[in-house]
Amino acid sequence: MSAQYIYQDAKQPVEKRVEDLLGRMSLEEKVAQMNQYVGLEHMKKAAFEISPEEMKKSHAMGFYADYPPAKIEEMTKQGMVGSFLHVVSAEEANYLQSLALQSRLKIPLIMGIDAVHGNGMVRGTTIYPTCIGQAASFNPALVEKMSHETALEMRATGTHWTFTPNVEVARDARWGRVGETFGEDPFLVSKMGVATIKGFQNESNAGADFVLACAKHLIGGSQPLNGVNGAPFDVSERTMREVFLPPFQACVDAGAATVMTAHNELNGIPCHGNKYLMDDILRKELGFKGFIVSDWMDIERMQDYHKVSETLKDAFFLSVDAGMDLHMHGPDFYFDVIKLVQEGKLTEARINESVRKILESKFRLGLFENPYVNVANVNKILYNKNHQQTALDLARQSIVLLKNENNLLPLDSKKYKKVLVTGPNANNQSILGDWALEQPEANVVTIYQGLKQVRPDVKFNLCEFGWNLRTMKQEQVDKAIGMAKDNDLVIVVVGENSMRYQWKDKTCGENSDRYDINLVGLQQELVEGLYNMGVPVVVVLVNGRPLSTEWIANNVPALLEAWEPGSLGGQATAEILFGDVNPSAKLPITIPRHSGQIQTYYNYKFTSKWFKYATGNSTPLFDFGYGLSYTSFKYGEMKLSAKEIAKDGSVVASIDITNIGKKQGDEVVQLYITDNYSSATRPVKELKDFARISLNPGETKTVEFNITPDKLSYYDAKMNYGVEAGAFTVHIGSSSRTADLKKEEFIVR
Ligand code: GLC
Repeated sequence: MSAQYIYQDAKQPVEKRVEDLLGRMSLEEKVAQMNQYVGLEHMKKAAFEISPEEMKKSHAMGFYADYPPAKIEEMTKQGMVGSFLHVVSAEEANYLQSLALQSRLKIPLIMGIDAVHGNGMVRGTTIYPTCIGQAASFNPALVEKMSHETALEMRATGTHWTFTPNVEVARDARWGRVGETFGEDPFLVSKMGVATIKGFQNESNAGADFVLACAKHLIGGSQPLNGVNGAPFDVSERTMREVFLPPFQACVDAGAATVMTAHNELNGIPCHGNKYLMDDILRKELGFKGFIVSDWMDIERMQDYHKVSETLKDAFFLSVDAGMDLHMHGPDFYFDVIKLVQEGKLTEARINESVRKILESKFRLGLFENPYVNVANVNKILYNKNHQQTALDLARQSIVLLKNENNLLPLDSKKYKKVLVTGPNANNQSILGDWALEQPEANVVTIYQGLKQVRPDVKFNLCEFGWNLRTMKQEQVDKAIGMAKDNDLVIVVVGENSMRYQWKDKTCGENSDRYDINLVGLQQELVEGLYNMGVPVVVVLVNGRPLSTEWIANNVPALLEAWEPGSLGGQATAEILFGDVNPSAKLPITIPRHSGQIQTYYNYKFTSKWFKYATGNSTPLFDFGYGLSYTSFKYGEMKLSAKEIAKDGSVVASIDITNIGKKQGDEVVQLYITDNYSSATRPVKELKDFARISLNPGETKTVEFNITPDKLSYYDAKMNYGVEAGAFTVHIGSSSRTADLKKEEFIVR
């Protein structure tokens, strides 16, 4: 672009360019920057597939009955659109930019998409393990690397803004989106959220890998009433600040460019119209400097769902006045907000605040200089060998070994020459999880394919069920069970289905909440039937939410929690089953025995377990931080650098860990802290640090944790944040289970 004006001169500072451009914009051009539409191909497909009524309830498909694609194209040319989402090809992205650059001021578009674990909404991309599996790796560096690679695959296809990380703290497995979170612990969620942001927001490079991240959803969508997405979030100020807010603070401190508000209300006030939340807390208290985007039609839903606004116009006023900067999605917002300013209900100064942030982002992204992408580059960058390797590495580190009776695993291929592979998740793309379109078959290694690839000398006999858990046929179950006796061992792959493109039949993922967390369909009958044939059975779970597989855990000799391990997940699963890879992942979330135990998380208050249930077991099925290895690690005695410190002091806890087994292995060493007595009640323990270490057989490493005041601080009885004097217990070990922890105490004077 030739620099006729200051805003067109890339040598000028961004602030100057913003002010120069803002000064040239009409009110209409300003409000346009605050508005977003779904992509043209998206709206055509949606209009074909769903009715306007279904669209009103949808969170995933959108179109505009009175604004067909041609009209949106014309509006884009007129400078009436600022952003699109779900544009899934470089060609369409370039076309839309070409329209925007015909407008008077030639302001480029910002394109957003849910690139949650790879740029999965685009075909042909690298799909990494879903977030719950990423968290299970306890490897923030690898998550950062994944995010950087995803940024490259996004910019290559013309998108600049990802609606991730989801840094909600998941405490209810009935909620469909647990797989999209980093689990139940605020510290781990914060670490993974920050790693994601750092991976995406590479501002140093000239835009090739700089993508805006989006910390979401503010706040509490992960603890909706009864686990139903969008249901009310009713929480004390204390719990909100101690559990749900810290990941957002961490993301703001890491420079999160955007934040997305949550569908739900916070204590009676919808998040999308909540000035206390968006302004007092997010901007003033946490220091957020970026822009806030609404979630899908959630401003509108303050009228038809929350019923706090009688008209759409009232809803738009409530949201913008509360601090909303950019509307996802559709035309009503544009026209009504212009009217609200013309009527004096909103000031142009308020509009300028939002537009400044949006324009600043577009300048930072380099969009004024490079609005287009080179379509010829797409296939060089998407699903390239380096990205495949990262996806494989992350899958290998995300799969949790939960049970291995009599060391059945790793499997000996000389002993198990004929293996039945069955179950509805054995040979399809359920391993890609939510936020992924169906990918080219050549880009996905299913578990069955991975087994054949990793052990070509073993005869794997497949008995398939198709992906739909709801329509499993008894005769197919009977057939699989009948095949067991002709094999040396059975590998049965069960779990959930989060396929977004099978919206009506999936059982997990967005808006697929459940009132129990058992295996859907005939899966349990299948596993029990196979087990009763007397042939060794290995169960592999492929799922986003935790599943209450108590019978399986009590009976089946080997159990692997693979989560949704992504494009190369089948290979990684097979490598672990046959011992080419030593499993090292740990649970980022507690696995309940039964949905009746929900909420059950490791960092419970002392009185949560005052009494045991009269029936049923009160302990979880598997604990936060738990995961087995094919080797064993011995923890030495913990040493503390001091037994007494001042309130602003620190203490170093150190411990030796030795690999006393015969295989190389990684161990995730975990540090928990208990505040023994406090003026307000505290959790029995809280994760405050972790370290993933690699040890060869016989090798010993010393791990040190620096316990600083931030790891001891909390909101006291008067809601003052800080360190209270008293005794603290330090726990270090291989899981949150008391039996797996060494402990020492120190005093704060
Ligand atoms: C959905 C989700 C949100 C996502 C947005 C755009 O409603 O709640 O997480 O980023 O729509 O796809």
